[in-house]
Amino acid sequence: MTITPFAARFEANPHAKSDAEREAILADPGFGTHFTDHMFVADWTPDEGWQDPRVVPYGPITLDPSAAVLHYAQEIFEGLKAYAHESSIQLFRAEQNAARMQRSAHRLALPPLPVDWFLGSIDALVRADHTWVPSGGERSLYLRPFMYASESFLGVRPAAKVTYSVIASPAGAYFKGGLKPVSIWLSTTYTRAGAGGTGAAKCGGNYAASLLPQQEGIAHGCDQVVFLDSIEQTWIEELGGMNLFFVQSDGSIVTPALTGSILEGITRDSILTLAADLGHDVTQRRVSLDEWRTGVADGTITEIFACGTAAVVTPVGTLRWDDGEVTCGTGEAGKVTSEIRSALVDIQYGRAEDRHGWLRPIAGPPSA
Ligand code: PLP
Ligand code: COI
Repeated sequence: MTITPFAARFEANPHAKSDAEREAILADPGFGTHFTDHMFVADWTPDEGWQDPRVVPYGPITLDPSAAVLHYAQEIFEGLKAYAHESSIQLFRAEQNAARMQRSAHRLALPPLPVDWFLGSIDALVRADHTWVPSGGERSLYLRPFMYASESFLGVRPAAKVTYSVIASPAGAYFKGGLKPVSIWLSTTYTRAGAGGTGAAKCGGNYAASLLPQQEGIAHGCDQVVFLDSIEQTWIEELGGMNLFFVQSDGSIVTPALTGSILEGITRDSILTLAADLGHDVTQRRVSLDEWRTGVADGTITEIFACGTAAVVTPVGTLRWDDGEVTCGTGEAGKVTSEIRSALVDIQYGRAEDRHGWLRPIAGPPSA
């Protein structure tokens, strides 16, 4: 199966890591600190469209100091993983990432990247760096496509020169504690995204806005921050980089409905399907802060978990605020959380049947 719409120019990295260096990294990759030998790059202008697809040595980018992205943050990104199966490398719902990148591009007035360019760019990079896909354990190759305004111009308007790139980073667990529940700081001073803003787009600015509240959370001994809606300060939206699910004592599962300011997680969407497959009643609706606090206290909420590509499915324990806290669970992943997590990762790693057609092999032989 070849869907790649282009033959990317290839420039081999003369300083590629040795087999021994790479194997040492793959044995304990951590998250987001090591990168493969190559990166994918393509450029866009209004007249020429997307052009010059290339796989080149991973390395610094040269930008003019007036490049628009450095001033007005016209930038979007994606996150997905490549999984080593016995005799292939597979992507999980990559076309969903392609579609979301198009929605993000629209919101940030960036040019849409055609789906076959998105998938083709990933195929080209993963083919070039296929030896970097870790196998064994819950390891994968995290792929980070991103697009930014590279035009040198200080006027405030959409850039007429845009760069799209993909880098890849071998990944182990996002949280060092493994499946230990994370603690959450309730941000009441800051919101992540406002009505009509960019919350549903995966743009760098959303993450920049989450850093100060995240620092505040860390200062209060928490791992992550949960944000409320910006209008009523009442409804649970999501964490800085993950969506939330609540398991109720009757086995039903609730997740905050998409409001336009929540990122539409692909893991979230997959879990909605998998939880229903497993026989749970699943609802998307508004969930209030009070429901979280009282539900945990009176036992109506029995498990809480967060989900996303990087963190997969992570149990949530304590919710802390200025003068109080509630803790859900006993310090271990709950039964339903574990069941859903396994259902998801078993498909991703090829241990369970892919009944929904979510996997897609990297096109072409690894050596092509
Ligand atoms: N919410 C935010 C703000 C995120 O950054 C992410 C991560 O990508 C998610 C949710 C989960 O999305 P996905 O499951 O597509 O990775
Ligand atoms: C992801 O899960 O892919 C994310 O983007 C979350 C975070 C690393 C930004």
